Amino acid sequence: MAKNTALNKAAKAQEDEFYTEMRDITDEINFYVPFFHDKVVLCNCDDPYESNFFKYFASSFKFLKLKKLIASSYDRSPVAQTQLSLFEENKPPQERTPYRAVMVELDFEGDRIKGFQDIEHALKTREGVVKKLKGDGDFRSSECIELLKQADIVVTNPPFSLFREFVAQLIQYDKKFLILGNHNAITYKEIFPLIMQNKMWLGITNGDKSFKVPSYYEPRATRYWQDESGQKYRSLGNMCWFTNLENKKRNEEMLLVNSYYENPEKYPKYDNYDVIEVGKLSDIPRDYDGVMGVPVTFLDKYNPKQFEILGCTESEGKGFSNGLWDPSSNVAQPLIRGKKIYKRIFIRRK
Ligand SMILES: C[S@@+](CC[C@H](N)C(=O)[O-])C[C@H]1O[C@@H](n2cnc3c(N)ncnc32)[C@H](O)[C@@H]1O
Repeated sequence: MAKNTALNKAAKAQEDEFYTEMRDITDEINFYVPFFHDKVVLCNCDDPYESNFFKYFASSFKFLKLKKLIASSYDRSPVAQTQLSLFEENKPPQERTPYRAVMVELDFEGDRIKGFQDIEHALKTREGVVKKLKGDGDFRSSECIELLKQADIVVTNPPFSLFREFVAQLIQYDKKFLILGNHNAITYKEIFPLIMQNKMWLGITNGDKSFKVPSYYEPRATRYWQDESGQKYRSLGNMCWFTNLENKKRNEEMLLVNSYYENPEKYPKYDNYDVIEVGKLSDIPRDYDGVMGVPVTFLDKYNPKQFEILGCTESEGKGFSNGLWDPSSNVAQPLIRGKKIYKRIFIRRK
């Protein structure tokens, strides 16, 4: 491998080890409780001991009335098997193999499992709950795909560097999902068409989130701290849940109080598109039937019964936006009197 490519890969992998906090998981999943009834949940980028996704579902198994919970770990994850040394107690972490954990209703029968301590005990002692994987635990490996096939809903925070592949696989296997990602992913050429086609949308509790990171992560000037135990944290301001589970926000109508016709000079047309500029979401007019350019934050308010999405500027993929985009054109950004306008989503009222 060329030196630069290896370095890039290492740098990307550095961005993959962000461990989700329990409160961020519960805050979002609270909006989807009925969807989990009698379902098989898979957390496929999750060390069963370390991951708060696994902890959340194991401790809420009865409350959510789950049918089965499966988690699988990845052998290159630095936390994998460091705490739950089930089989390879004496081996250093890099020599241990990844495993999957499967918990079914029987494991939660009676009052045996009350808190996470009991779950940990069950993981360690109950036969058949935890098994070694043959491969490396890559979510794309055949044995992990077999686990995916069993699942109804996939819930995790996948590696940022493999977000496109992760989503493509969920779509390919026609799975329901609730996954955490970066806001920037919205305009990836593989992701935006799915949003346009209403195959995926944003969750509810998007925004700033903090994550535990491994001890070898370098300190940073901003959005980085250590707690009293020395645990390192980083925060990211632009996190988003991506899902194909219905949520209440997606069904709320935006109240539109402004009028285009009473104030047309407030809404200039782009030089290069037959589209008006609406720089603030609260300014979306109630009476304009043509196409409007709105900030990407529109997706937080998007209700497909109220608006349709026609395209997106400055996405990686030009030319996919229903004829609005001319892939042969050099002009990527909308212009107003020659001045470039920041990333916009093109929408129309229904
Ligand atoms: C953003 S972290 C999140 C970890 C955990 N899901 C959580 O939310 O706390 C992504 C995890 O995926 C693991 N990972 C990286 N590449 C993977 C792959 N190809 N297949 C499965 N997991 C992978 C990383 O090692 C890392 O632990």
